[in-house]
Amino acid sequence: MTARGRFITLEGGEGAGKSTQARRLETALAAAGHVVIRTREPGGAPGAEAIRGLLLGQGGWDAITECLLHFAARREHVVRTIEPALAAGQWVVCDRFADSTMAYQVFGQDVPRPVFDALARVALDGLVPDLTLILDLPPAAGLARAAARGETNRYEALDPAFHARVRDGFRAIAVTEPTRCALLDATAGPDEVAAAILRLVQARLG
Ligand code: TYD
Repeated sequence: MTARGRFITLEGGEGAGKSTQARRLETALAAAGHVVIRTREPGGAPGAEAIRGLLLGQGGWDAITECLLHFAARREHVVRTIEPALAAGQWVVCDRFADSTMAYQVFGQDVPRPVFDALARVALDGLVPDLTLILDLPPAAGLARAAARGETNRYEALDPAFHARVRDGFRAIAVTEPTRCALLDATAGPDEVAAAILRLVQARLG
């Protein structure tokens, strides 16, 4: 029987460097002999990418509707992409997962926690990341990086208080679930963050 793969998620606010670190981690894990897939949310499966278009393309959703859409996309992603890969022994590196919904929709948009819990129960079938790397940096710094890249989505355009709540949300998750999560200082340079990530993966997943 094939040993199940490992599921690693990267989380954090805008411009924290998740995508860069996801790519670097994918390369390092592949060099160590693992079969790796790198994926992202919202998206990562055909139906989930279609829902991503709805989420990022237009605003004005009721906050609970928005939360439902994120979990609908995630369900497709889990069932079509993540679970089959893990079952086949592949390692999955995922740019954002359910913690983003906790930070952006529950902390950021005041969706009630029981709504999140109920949707997570239905959508995830108990799937929990083996390791979650939370890249932490002050929102102003992250938004400036994102703007410099010329990437803006409608979440980035929300007010500073929203982004402060998102950061608080991620930090709260790291405190509540220290075994699964690690908080990393994303103000450090990309090489330093990548090295810290590799040390953590080695220490926690072997
Ligand atoms: P994206 O362009 O992929 O941004 P990033 O590079 O920061 O990941 O857009 C994803 C946006 O969706 C991002 O602003 C965060 C938001 N988001 C949520 O609000 N809730 C979620 O559950 C997820 C997965 C993303």
